[in-house]
Amino acid sequence: MARRKYVVGNWKMNGLSAAIADAQAIFAAAKDHPGVDVALCPPFTLIGGMVAAAPGAAVGGQDCHSAASGAFTGSVSALMLADAGATLVIVGHSERREGCGESDADIRAKAEAGLAAGLSVILCVGEPREVRESGGAIDYVLAQVAQSVPDDFDATRLSIAYEPIWAIGTGLVPTVADVAAMHGAIRGALTARFGGKADDMRLLYGGSVNGDNAAELLGAGDVDGALVGGASLTAAKFVPIVAATAALG
Ligand code: PGA
Repeated sequence: MARRKYVVGNWKMNGLSAAIADAQAIFAAAKDHPGVDVALCPPFTLIGGMVAAAPGAAVGGQDCHSAASGAFTGSVSALMLADAGATLVIVGHSERREGCGESDADIRAKAEAGLAAGLSVILCVGEPREVRESGGAIDYVLAQVAQSVPDDFDATRLSIAYEPIWAIGTGLVPTVADVAAMHGAIRGALTARFGGKADDMRLLYGGSVNGDNAAELLGAGDVDGALVGGASLTAAKFVPIVAATAALG
């Protein structure tokens, strides 16, 4: 089955209710590019309003708890995201791995919870700068993939986002050859573990993607889309990424 291109905006901790108008503009413009799946992951507080303002649009969470409910102050479960109208969730973002001390086992449990709640899951992996500089990036990322990807899932609902930590929010990007090598290695590891089902999984690149570099980065082998932070907050910055992705065919 051909993998559809997928461009996902991660708003991080940005956006008050007035920003729902930006989401509406993004989703409206995305309709011009029906070959690309477009999703936005705003803060929890905006999910319900965004779903109401853009019916049928793909809106997601940036994290979820692995339990369905319970005494976990401040947390939100995958079931709650689905109940609010979300259709996807990001798990394992490096800002949560590093800032909140999340382990591969935690992330695997969150991915399982998201899938069980009926959500699509984007599971993030990526190496720190010193690992890239020491030449160990592929081994590091493949270990994250081995330990955080669940055993059983619907491949069309589980995507992996490769996000080198040193490229996030910095304006630095890996070479296209490095992106292709990493994505090829991830696809190879997934195929070795899951067989042909790995062909249906989408592999996204994330880290300083913008309208100027999207065509080059997303044209690399085994790159099925992008996870975009800073350039996803406005239609003016995000829609060119969607358009560049659509132009890749
Ligand atoms: P960036 O963030 O596009 O601002 O680099 C990407 C991400 O963290 O998902």
